[in-house]
Amino acid sequence: MTTVAFIGLGVMGYPMAGFLARAGHTVRVYNRTTSRAQQWAGDYPGTVWPTPAEAAQGAEYVFACVGNDDDLREVACGERGAFAGMSRGSLFVDHTTASANVARELAALAAERDIGFLDAPVSGGQAGAENGALTVMVGGEPDDYERALPLIDHYARAVNRLGPVGSGQLCKMVNQVCIAGVVQGLAEGLHFARAAGLDAEQVVEVISKGAAQSWQMENRYQTMLAGEYEHGFAVDWMRKDLAIVLDEAQRNGALLPVTALVDQFYSEVQALGGGRWDTSSLFARLTNVRSFD
Ligand SMILES: NC(=O)c1ccc[n+]([C@@H]2O[C@H](COP(=O)([O-])OP(=O)(O)OC[C@H]3O[C@@H](n4cnc5c(N)ncnc54)[C@H](OP(=O)(O)O)[C@@H]3O)[C@@H](O)[C@H]2O)c1
Repeated sequence: MTTVAFIGLGVMGYPMAGFLARAGHTVRVYNRTTSRAQQWAGDYPGTVWPTPAEAAQGAEYVFACVGNDDDLREVACGERGAFAGMSRGSLFVDHTTASANVARELAALAAERDIGFLDAPVSGGQAGAENGALTVMVGGEPDDYERALPLIDHYARAVNRLGPVGSGQLCKMVNQVCIAGVVQGLAEGLHFARAAGLDAEQVVEVISKGAAQSWQMENRYQTMLAGEYEHGFAVDWMRKDLAIVLDEAQRNGALLPVTALVDQFYSEVQALGGGRWDTSSLFARLTNVRSFD
């Protein structure tokens, strides 16, 4: 059994750290809002530390799952960040959805201290984290990947290394590009079905058996038709991710016209007050637009 630290006990990090603790590892946690860390320590065996640096002391592995690039910099290489407490030869595994650039930047800083670094963003959402069934996309050195794999396996259904540091984040960007287009297509399909006077539920029951089927269709059409969006993956997070994607595309030359448009549509959902709504709320925007016609 291993000593590990986990930084960031949000919707995703809380259950992920829990799987490590339940597997018998010694888990040292840090969360910016201390009450949340104390709640975690009530649910799982583990100790609460006041800074990332202190949580990281004596840990062979330090996991993080925070919000964005700046949050990650703060908990990794800030004044009281984890790097300051990590020993030579230890490994930092970042599960935040962040840019490939920040992954490379932090990996270089970690290397100066003889610390390994993996970027390892996840997909599968809250349910995937709570059920230990996440998909994990990893970038980094093969040796670091091999030694982190048995730990990541505690909360993952699929773990893959895509290439050097940054590759995990680039793979996650592809994931978000694919989701953006599919959700908008589904929203438009349901919108059209209603406008055409069809029973939209029946339409989905029919077409979900064929080529139009998707995870979004299977899992979201009922809540979309019911106008329920208080669940799932928040629009604010999606906009953060799409900003990362569009920035990367400016550098690598990829053409993402639909992604850019859907990003604008999400800004309209935010203006409707839907920043915390699930990404399927693109349908709410269509309903709203139509009511102003
Ligand atoms: N939710 C999903 O379905 C999902 C799916 C895939 C990927 N992700 C990605 O996973 C990451 C975490 O998502 P989440 O849903 O767990 O978010 P969340 O519930 O908002 O949790 C964010 C965590 O990061 C901490 N944090 C944020 N900024 C910080 C800072 N500057 N210093 C220290 N701690 C900080 C927060 O601490 P406090 O408790 O103090 O706020 C909290 O523990 C994001 O990058 C997200 O895009 C999320």
